[in-house]
Amino acid sequence: MSKLWGGRFTKETNKLVEEFTASITFDQKLAKEDIAGSLAHVQMLGECGIIPMEDAEKIKDGLLSIKKMVDDQEVEFLVEDEDIHMNIEKLLIEKIGSVGGKLHTGRSRNDQVATDMHLYLRTKTTELIKLLEDVQKALIGQAKENVETLIPGYTHLQRAQPVSFAHHVLAYFWMFERDKERLIDSLKRINWLPLGSGALAGTTFPINRERVAELLGFETVYPNSMDAVSDRDFILEFLSIGSIIMTHISRLSEELVIWSSQEFQFVELDDSFCTGSSIMPQKKNPDVPELLRGKTGRAYGNLIGLLTVLKGLPLAYNKDLQEDKEGMFDTVETLEGSLKLLAPMIDTMTVKKDVMRKAINNDFSNATDIADYLVRKGLPFREAHEVIGKIVLYAIQSNKFLLDLSFEEYQEFSPLFEEDIYQVLAPEHVVAVRNSFGGTAPEQVLKQITLAEGKLQE
Ligand code: ARG
Repeated sequence: MSKLWGGRFTKETNKLVEEFTASITFDQKLAKEDIAGSLAHVQMLGECGIIPMEDAEKIKDGLLSIKKMVDDQEVEFLVEDEDIHMNIEKLLIEKIGSVGGKLHTGRSRNDQVATDMHLYLRTKTTELIKLLEDVQKALIGQAKENVETLIPGYTHLQRAQPVSFAHHVLAYFWMFERDKERLIDSLKRINWLPLGSGALAGTTFPINRERVAELLGFETVYPNSMDAVSDRDFILEFLSIGSIIMTHISRLSEELVIWSSQEFQFVELDDSFCTGSSIMPQKKNPDVPELLRGKTGRAYGNLIGLLTVLKGLPLAYNKDLQEDKEGMFDTVETLEGSLKLLAPMIDTMTVKKDVMRKAINNDFSNATDIADYLVRKGLPFREAHEVIGKIVLYAIQSNKFLLDLSFEEYQEFSPLFEEDIYQVLAPEHVVAVRNSFGGTAPEQVLKQITLAEGKLQE
């Protein structure tokens, strides 16, 4: 059998053109979606009397047996048949004869491929939401173990104020929570059905688009056929959300790389998530978080790639749109792979509480608290800031930390100091008094964990 569109042609397609224009090498990933779309379309054609119901039934049986062959990996897809749509249609005609040729009534590959992409992204978006939740659960797990674990909190990567380690990891919980919300929101637009738009202008057959939408579980149909066949906003949106997710994964990975360095040693990644060096026997490299950080680049690239494909396209379908697929598949696979690794890596890492605690004993991250102390004794904050600046300088010069200074030394800087200053400076106290909503005090962190767990129950 020759090309499905061969009628108008007198020459064979050049082999290089065939290879260059074919998408079957990658769009075979859409086989299940393509068959699902066809099953709904042909059911509607039968119900509307556009083709006899018994033909519709034969086509459905044929499609179902092709689906089984696809599931069992028995189909050999052919470059000559260009893309997934024509590969399947040709298989169908081979299987059930010329009645199979009725399937494409009232439809075009343009509304067909758009529908396949919507179906594919709907499934993947739903799966990714679950994978994000696994990461969130791992973060909550570490948080629960570490409400009272103190770690230096940084700004400008300089020690700022001590925080609860749980508070630090929960910051990522909320990033992933917003990512989940974005994915859920995007489903509204993924759930617009393009099928029934024909090549660009609609169809002459009395089709029922709402019925197809119902059969495929779409919420609504595109109200404009030209928009329907050329819209790829839903993919752009997915690639944007995917890029934001990878940004969050990358920031967390960066922290894990820093924390597991010899210089910090705040966490130790499980051996099963690290690799060695072929030359330096002592090394245990954090390859997984490094690669997660590195893979973020391809997600951004896929987004910029599709934005660029779309920016100059006139309506309606243009072959350029075939370039929407590989980047989308790649971002889906990158996200799946990354999230699947991230959850167990967080679960199995060892938090070195004593190292973190030692770090806090050796810094000035309690300086704000003596400033606040003097403010509570009536000194204006600006003046208190000045006094404490001098104390810190003095301490650095005498090789001491704030808790090492004697009471007499404090009194020399201000008569407002009393013996309770040492209590105020204790790191546990410094953390416990940041008890405003959303703050790092254990009381607030426990509330936050309850809130977070509630989000996972929703
Ligand atoms: N393989 C094509 C794509 O991925 C399917 C649509 C082709 N339509 C067309 N009129 N050539 O975009």
